[in-house]
Formats: sequence, C-alpha cells, structure tokens
Amino acid sequence: MSLAGFGPSQIRYDMFDLVKSAEEARRLDKCERIYHRGQDMAWDGREILPMLIKQHGGIRVSPEKREALKKVFAIILWGEFAAWKVSAQLADRLVPLEAKMAATSQAFDEARHFYVMHDYLKELDYTIEPLDRAPQALLDTVLETDKLPHKLLGMQLLIEPIALTVFQTVRESGIEPVLCDLLRYYERDEARHVGLGMQYLPSMLQRMTKREIAALFAFQVRLMSWAMAELKVMESDLKVLGITPRVIVARTRKKQLAATHEALSALGVAWRDERNYPAATLNAVTEFMFPEEHLRHDPKGRIGSAWRRFWHKEELHDASEFDQHEHAIKTLQGIQ
Ligand SMILES: [Fe+2]
Ligand SMILES: [Fe+2]
Repeated sequence: MSLAGFGPSQIRYDMFDLVKSAEEARRLDKCERIYHRGQDMAWDGREILPMLIKQHGGIRVSPEKREALKKVFAIILWGEFAAWKVSAQLADRLVPLEAKMAATSQAFDEARHFYVMHDYLKELDYTIEPLDRAPQALLDTVLETDKLPHKLLGMQLLIEPIALTVFQTVRESGIEPVLCDLLRYYERDEARHVGLGMQYLPSMLQRMTKREIAALFAFQVRLMSWAMAELKVMESDLKVLGITPRVIVARTRKKQLAATHEALSALGVAWRDERNYPAATLNAVTEFMFPEEHLRHDPKGRIGSAWRRFWHKEELHDASEFDQHEHAIKTLQGIQ
C-alpha cells in the first residue's frame, strides 16, 4: 500500500509499451477490435425482450418445462453476474490498453445479460434463491482467485464455452420461442468474450514459469470437476427440456478445446502430441457419470467405456468453432 502522492503510482504509464513481438501486437489488435465490435453490436435489452414477447404472443410453455427452465436459467443468471464481476476485475487489473478495453466492453455486455435474464426469469415467476453448491463453487472459485491467468482461463475459456453450449442447445430445442430468439443475442456476445481469452492468455503464459503454468492447469482441472458436478445438478431439468447431458458435455469439450488450442498454438505449443492425463481422467469420469442410455444400468459397460475414453485421442478444433454463433441480431445500429 502506498500513501497517495508518495510511493508507486496506480497510473500505468507503461500500458502502451508492454508488447514483446509482432505476433503479440497482432493479438492485442484483435483485443482492441473486440472492444469496438462490442460497441457496434450493442443491443438494447429494454427493447429486445418486450419485442420478442410481443412477436411470439407471450411466453407459452407447460408448467413442468417452465420449472425446468427456471432452474437451468437461474444458474445462467448468476453465471452472468459472476461474468460481470470477473470482467470488471479484469478491466481494472489488466495493464495493456487493448486487453483492458476488451474486458471493459465485456463488463458492459455482461451487465446487459444479467438484467435481461433477470427480466426474462421474472416473466416465469422466478424468485431469487441461492444456487446449489456445485454451480456456486464453480463461480466462486473464479471470482476469488487473485491470479489473473486463472480468472481469464476460468471465465473466458471454461465457463463461457459452457454457457455458449447451453444457449445453443436450448435454442436448437425450440422449447420456448421467446427464450430461443433471445439466446441468439447472448450467443453473439459470448463468442466475442471467448475471443479475449484466446487472444490474451498467450501473453500471460509467455511471462509465466513452468511451475506457474502447472498450477494454472491444476486449477483448470479443479474447475472442470466443479463443472461436471454442476451438470449433474442440471441433469434432471435438462432431461425435462429434452436435452441429453452427454450432448452438452461433448459440445462444451469441443469449444473448450478449440479455445485452448487457439491460445496455445499462438505460443507454438504442439499440444496435440502431449497427453494431458488430468484431462483424460476427467473425460473418463464424465463418461462414467453421463453414460450412453444403453449403459445406464450396466456398471461394467460403463467402466469399459470410461476406460476407452481415457485412451481416446481428442480431435483438434480451431477458432472457426465459434463462427456458428454469428446470428443476425437487431443492434442499436440496425440488423447485423
Ligand atoms: Fe454473458
Ligand atoms: Fe460472457
């Protein structure tokens, strides 16, 4: 701590000169574009939600599905709140101008996601109650860590891909037309937020020791365990909505791999050849927890399929994985 006027300043005069290489400058340019894109693509939640409710003649869904939607999207609501806080923490603490701008525009988006989701849930007669332990622990773990790489990896590369997957899968289910149309708006924004993680995490990794990187990946495994427990919490409600948790797991994994691969390939890391045992273990556990339907009551079969999953080499995906979220939406500047 310093006494104002004496000691080190909070004003970072060095924010313009931290770039190490042309490759890093290119990634930071992309971060700056995230900020400007966020501004161009901003939409007004006070206009969009009432417009969609009017277009579809109100929210019409059976009582059973309404309850399931409330439970799943209450988790999303508080996830949006956590994303808002984490992006504001990043906006405050990231030093390079372009990364700070990208995090600031994300905080602006997440505030909108939070109040619009709250407005939507009120339409379903949602009343506020604390989350189950697993989803709350997942969010708190990212909120409470002091380490910026952990926050960035946790929120932008692990939690945002989960949210994107839930949005996409619920939207495709056509379960409730107002929500399905609204989720197009969310997907458009969230895909941009993953971009901050993909573009800026490499800069952080470049400045970390091997020991720090190992601690970061141990943190990743911890978060993924909580994410699996969260999915278990949502399982019965997802089923009511006609969604198989396995589909969510597979899609999320694809997006997380695409984002992580994009970030690591900027550093020239050929991670395809490196076996990630904690991740493989987690894959096997997932296979056991969310088995195929025919193995549901066959413990031996489940162990066999978990074992195969452990040794299965994962396919690679790149950032084009996120192109599918580029829906046309009504922004403040018209349909884009
Ligand atoms: Fe969001
Ligand atoms: Fe987000």
